[in-house]
Amino acid sequence: MIVLGIESSCDETAAAVVNDNGDILSNIVLSQLRTHRVYGGVVPEVAAREHLEHIDKVIAAALKDAGIGFSDLDGVAATCGPGLIGGVMIGMMSAKAISSVHNIPFIAVNHLEGHALTARLTDKVAFPYLVLLVSGGHTQLLVAESLGKYRRLGTTLDDAAGECFDKSAKLMGLPYPGGPNIEKIAKECADKKAAIARFPLPSPMKDKKNCDFSFSGLKTAVRLKVDQLPEGDLDKADITELSCALEIKIAEILANKSGRAISQFKNAFGPFNSSPGFVVCGGVSANQTIRQQLQTLALENNMTFHAPPLSLSGDNGAMIAWAGIEKLLANLANGENYKGDSLDFAARPRWPLDPDAQARPGAGVKA
Ligand code: KG4
Ligand code: ZN
Repeated sequence: MIVLGIESSCDETAAAVVNDNGDILSNIVLSQLRTHRVYGGVVPEVAAREHLEHIDKVIAAALKDAGIGFSDLDGVAATCGPGLIGGVMIGMMSAKAISSVHNIPFIAVNHLEGHALTARLTDKVAFPYLVLLVSGGHTQLLVAESLGKYRRLGTTLDDAAGECFDKSAKLMGLPYPGGPNIEKIAKECADKKAAIARFPLPSPMKDKKNCDFSFSGLKTAVRLKVDQLPEGDLDKADITELSCALEIKIAEILANKSGRAISQFKNAFGPFNSSPGFVVCGGVSANQTIRQQLQTLALENNMTFHAPPLSLSGDNGAMIAWAGIEKLLANLANGENYKGDSLDFAARPRWPLDPDAQARPGAGVKA
């Protein structure tokens, strides 16, 4: 089975071809970073126009790289939410057109599910497993129980971790996207302990006995630290130390709440025959400090740690194609003749993975 996956929910126009062995036959990601950098963040309307301009070429390149044509496809999957609705609609409509013209199933994929299932594409992780999804729009702890069935254990009440990186970077005068730039500059910090002592940052929600996060206070703390520094352009050494302290703090917060989630997961789903999976995914999962801390936590708790290869940590079409394949295979396994989703499927700006989870007050209501 060969499926084309299309992703356009934020600032990457992406398409990939994947087969049911988990072979990634092509993976084209066209970043709009340079366009949005001048604005210091993604401008939704500009993003949608860029997707429209490039999507056909990106899809053609994905097919060419895979050495196949439309007639070789068994399905076409697209991100149909959550995300910036203008962009989502462009990828979704392209997929529907391909489905209609070539008479193949169209599969509507939840972007978050794409991230969460990547560990099954790369490492064949078995259900149930624990997922920490950390991106620019979401920070959630979920149990992936089975395909399409997710239980949310915790979420952010306000900003996402990636948003905290991005906004803090902006405060320090670093370019968008903040996460990779903070990681890069933090690597230059020679004395981490001194950086933490010089820039003590808060641990919001640490003592709350749940798996929820809050990052907006951390961003404000960074602003206050920046305000205390001498006026004018920040000194490189100051930015390096503050970046280092922030990165370590975010890693600590993520690990702390993941530790709570591991206990809840084990209590609810254990005992296990073999060590269950702990998966980190989403753009922020590219961060090496965060990965290392989570890997240590997983080992301490007898869990197998999975983080995507860097080529699949950010937004990409391969994860969408794979989610499409899993859906097609699940239907075939049930003896159904899978016809895909309806071409009437409407793009969703919000699409929670766990529809039963309690709504949260701030930006956490996003999903
Ligand atoms: O999953 P993603 O590509 O897009 C969304 O669905 O949001 O995640 C983008 C986020 C941005 O906030 C970006 O700053 C963050 O991931 N990010 C990182 C790193 N690479 C990307 N954060 C920390 N360290 C990194 N190396
Ligand atoms: Zn994403």
